[in-house]
Amino acid sequence: MAESALLRVCNLNTEFIIPDKGPARALEDVSFEVHPGETLGLVGESGCGKTTALMSILRLLPSNARISGQVFFKDVDLFGLSEKQMRAYRWRELAIVFQGAMNALNPVMRVGEQIREAITLHGLMSSSEAEMRVGELLELVGIPKERGAQYPFQYSGGMRQRAMIAMALACSPSVLFADEPTTALDVMVQAQVLELLNDIQQRLGLAIVLVTHDLGVVAEMCDTVVVMYGGKVAEYGPVDVIFNDPQHPYTQKLLESFPDLNEPTDPSTDSRQVLASIPGAPPRLTEIPPGCRFEPRCHVRIEKCKTESPPLMDVGENHLAACHLLK
Ligand SMILES: Nc1ncnc2c1ncn2[C@@H]1O[C@H](COP(=O)(O)OP(=O)(O)O)[C@@H](O)[C@H]1O
Ligand code: SF4
Ligand SMILES: [Mg+2]
Repeated sequence: MAESALLRVCNLNTEFIIPDKGPARALEDVSFEVHPGETLGLVGESGCGKTTALMSILRLLPSNARISGQVFFKDVDLFGLSEKQMRAYRWRELAIVFQGAMNALNPVMRVGEQIREAITLHGLMSSSEAEMRVGELLELVGIPKERGAQYPFQYSGGMRQRAMIAMALACSPSVLFADEPTTALDVMVQAQVLELLNDIQQRLGLAIVLVTHDLGVVAEMCDTVVVMYGGKVAEYGPVDVIFNDPQHPYTQKLLESFPDLNEPTDPSTDSRQVLASIPGAPPRLTEIPPGCRFEPRCHVRIEKCKTESPPLMDVGENHLAACHLLK
């Protein structure tokens, strides 16, 4: 896509070594780019490798993981850095709101204190600088700074998630990864958290990589979308193009029951649509078949889909899809 990418993920392969079972190939040849100010959605069913992709980029995988490929932040090859050098990028340039993070707050510690501790633990600032920063950060995410003195149980779910976003923003990163930031929140609160992310992006000009299984979130928030299936990129392109003219059979199925984006939505109903259910299950990662990973569930499969894996091909401007039917 355009030249000035902030983050370039090139042919990322990640596998987990599982004793007695061999490698689970969680990601295969995953590539995408993130530009300044862009919101990129990473979407797919549970288990398709979304979290693994973020953790691979940040080099935060467990010790049974093997990674190959390249990740460039600006022109720096992150996989070529020592762990110590990598720490200069984590949180300062690339920050993450972990999946389920809002439930990971320490129940017996004041929220402001936890944010301060996270900042100093990462060696990001001195204790006194961090103290000042906590108030600023809370206000940035719409929490009155006095409430930093409260405990997590005194916060609503939405406020706890805001606190986690505040923590991630401590060092004004260039890219914010948000892993399912609205899952487990009710619809009204989800909308508020998304609005907050939008607002922060406008004010701070950062890029956001938003991981979600919710197409409504993608439609509302993202400029571009990477549709993942079974650890691979099925389709990648601008959101409006993909929603209006999906090319991959998987994306087509996902969008089949999705409300038309051009139609006005009825405010009395929830327009959000969780991924439509497609019969069957994604492949087991320890027994990846040689052909297309979607083949067992594909409604338009042809003979060679069983044996040949389809390459990702250009199907339009900045639009890629991997399917044998697209020639
Ligand atoms: N530490 C691990 N060891 C073995 N397998 C793992 C590990 N972490 C994730 N996986 C597997 O990798 C696949 C992708 O997981 P994940 O990235 O969490 O998916 P998603 O975030 O899209 O739900 C899943 O099949 C999961 O079981
Ligand atoms: S390559 Fe074949 S099985 Fe895979 S999505 Fe295309 S038609 Fe379906
Ligand atoms: Mg996940």
